[in-house]
Amino acid sequence: MQIVRTVKELRAVQKDWHARGNVIGFVPTMGALHKGHLSLVKAAQAQSDKVIVSIFVNPTQFNDPKDLQAYPRTEQTDLEQLDPLGVDLVYLPSADEMYGQGFATKVSVAGLTDCLCGASRPGHFDGVATVVSKMLLQTGADKAFFGEKDFQQLQVIRRVVADLNIDIDVIGCPTMREHDGLAMSSRNMRLSEEGRRIAPQLHQIMQQSAEAIKGGTPIERAMSTAKSELADAGFGKVDYFEVRELENLELATNLDRPARLFAAVFLEDVRLIDNIQI
Ligand code: PAJ
Repeated sequence: MQIVRTVKELRAVQKDWHARGNVIGFVPTMGALHKGHLSLVKAAQAQSDKVIVSIFVNPTQFNDPKDLQAYPRTEQTDLEQLDPLGVDLVYLPSADEMYGQGFATKVSVAGLTDCLCGASRPGHFDGVATVVSKMLLQTGADKAFFGEKDFQQLQVIRRVVADLNIDIDVIGCPTMREHDGLAMSSRNMRLSEEGRRIAPQLHQIMQQSAEAIKGGTPIERAMSTAKSELADAGFGKVDYFEVRELENLELATNLDRPARLFAAVFLEDVRLIDNIQI
């Protein structure tokens, strides 16, 4: 497994691979890898000849400096997880490599980023769109793999790639869950034993809501039932619990078009997010 830390080295490898006719798959991550990330790596390996995984805790997508500082950095154990899978190259740029002196460009997606996590985390998606655009160009990959766990992020990236004519296929991969239904996330580690016991109820309540809506319960009524069930279960502040259309993330009032249920809820001081197809 090759490890590179500069754009120059990355480009040299990419050019060589392409000259030999390889299809390159790319999985961007911020490290602290778990089975959710590894499922993207496996999807990339199934659909490409060479796989690049990046690990970069991107400072520009954290709107809270404390959150950036608290983000787990586990480079050694991350590499130990990737090596046995047969990943070809890990890209580990420094912040200086990514944002050189005088850096002044921002990729900003309008509309899609006004709601959900964009509303509660101002600037977050500018940081994501900018760094992902840079890395898609740096790797020169043919396919990039993103989790549906961060569905809004996936849609934002699809928009950027279409709008900027970046020559890459964006592939969405299903959310990996623990046995009890909790969506895998590096944040789950921060829950107490009691919090970890409560957490899977988020997915259960979401599934019940989705079933109710499919059975004809009006969306608004299903949302308010779910919010009171969340409070009863012991969850804290609900950032959002909403049904939105798949493509444009507009609020849905019925199921005429494909829709998903999106949730962001605090448990202890951990913000859990999840979304499911209705
Ligand atoms: P990170 O949170 O490390 O996630 C990297 C990728 O793993 C994302 O595409 C995310 O959706 C996916 N992922 C996380 N949990 C998952 C799960 N339980 N099942 C399936 N996929 C899962 O998302 C980011 O990093 C950053 O914003 C990044 C795109 C790397 C830009 O900095």
